[in-house]
Amino acid sequence: MDIRIDSQPYAAASTDALVTFVFDEDNKWQGILGDIDRNSQGKLAQLAQSGEITGRPLELFLLHFPPGLAAQRLLLVGAGKREKFATADLRKISGAALRHLKSRGVKNLVFLTREGFAGPDAAQSVAEGLIIADFESDKYKSEKKNNNKEIQSVSLAGFDTSVAPHLDAALDRARVVGESINFARDLINEPSNKLTPRMLAAKAEAMAKEAGLAVEILDERKIAELKMGALIGVAQGSIEPPRMIVIRYTPENPKLNAPVLGLVGKAVTFDTGGISIKPANNMEKMKYDMGGGATMLGAIRAIARLKPPIPVIAVVPATENMPGGRAQKPGDVQVSMSGKTIEVINTDAEGRLILADAVTYAKKLGVTHIIDAATLTGAIEVALANVHVGAFGTPREYLDQFLESTKAAGEKMWPMPIDDEYQEMIKSNIADIKNVGSGKGGGAITGAWFIKEFTGDTPWIHLDIASTCWVDEGRPWLAKGPTGIAIRSIIDFAQKL
Ligand code: BES
Ligand code: MN
Ligand code: ZN
Repeated sequence: MDIRIDSQPYAAASTDALVTFVFDEDNKWQGILGDIDRNSQGKLAQLAQSGEITGRPLELFLLHFPPGLAAQRLLLVGAGKREKFATADLRKISGAALRHLKSRGVKNLVFLTREGFAGPDAAQSVAEGLIIADFESDKYKSEKKNNNKEIQSVSLAGFDTSVAPHLDAALDRARVVGESINFARDLINEPSNKLTPRMLAAKAEAMAKEAGLAVEILDERKIAELKMGALIGVAQGSIEPPRMIVIRYTPENPKLNAPVLGLVGKAVTFDTGGISIKPANNMEKMKYDMGGGATMLGAIRAIARLKPPIPVIAVVPATENMPGGRAQKPGDVQVSMSGKTIEVINTDAEGRLILADAVTYAKKLGVTHIIDAATLTGAIEVALANVHVGAFGTPREYLDQFLESTKAAGEKMWPMPIDDEYQEMIKSNIADIKNVGSGKGGGAITGAWFIKEFTGDTPWIHLDIASTCWVDEGRPWLAKGPTGIAIRSIIDFAQKL
């Protein structure tokens, strides 16, 4: 899909579809929309009187052969209240438009922006929305979802071309971010027989080489040598050996006293639960239990190209969680790389185990700040449904700084408590800690606390994406399946840290 800025007058553009958006206002026929209506000799406003154009969020109004326009179609996308509308929301507008028109065989379109949304940030949001919306999960289908239906080109009209070079740079950034998110979504989609820990490592290595990043894959021998007992404990139930994927971005001109950001992501390529086996119902979903790892691979892929002035290291522990003959059993004690001993109460709480060693290793590599992302707990769905990512962190200022980035990125995350009372719940009778909290409730918090046991005083953010990394139902701007959540926030944060 070719996306470019267009300075031609939109009314004369002979395109398959002209797209713009409408606010939920009493007098919506203002500015550009007023021009379009005047061009149509008031026909549009007349039509709207039937109540078909309300401007409600993501309402889609499609008009064929619109009077006064050279375009074959006019698509008006509802944008809700103007006061509530943010630049980041443009992604949903352009995405919903693309999916609606693509399924109708449209090949090219013009996206006309509105007054107040004509700068580089707006252009970036529109373009990102298009790239993310264009993604389909049909790799293994003989008959593709949109057979022969492809959007070939999109022109962005109405943007402030007095800053044309900035607009072009914004489109470049959008391609980097959008394609990195889709890269991660592709990985998350892969079934576990097509993406074992070794295959994930190979794909990560290829991505790193293409991006000019340094990469090291620790194999099972190296993992044993480093005494990563928690990761080994999880991996030993499978005949597939684990991998620890390490990718480094080093800036050419690092800023003074630059922090070193560690991106740690859980990559369980399949989670059966191990000996504490999961029920059959929905178990197939556990192929996406590597979503946190994919998130970090996507983020560092983008970081390599956007070149922030701080070093970034991605550390992704990859393993299966299987109930094989050598599998760890409930009650087993594992010695983590840090030396801390862990009583494994439930082998299905495996994510925190592999993150423990990954975090320890990241610290050994010199990271000064950590973000981890993991499909860690079903409990986060109980707390926040599939609306918000659960965001934990210490110190609080560090978490707040990250939450600013989530707002800029338009990704919903909610701060979760991490008070000391919850630490009590993971004290073990026979080891230093146990991998499941005692008592009722707080499952997402005790999971977070387990990781905190290993990050110690290092500023740390933990994102529980178990309920947001995958959607069973498509959204107007997004195919069903992997969402790519958190990647944009992490990229933004890395650029601002
Ligand atoms: N991978 C799961 C969490 C999960 C659940 C991800 C649903 C996506 C959708 C994780 O490894 C797990 O099994 N967690 C357990 C922890 C429990 C045993 C303390 C859970 O949440 O039930
Ligand atoms: Mn599990
Ligand atoms: Zn898991």
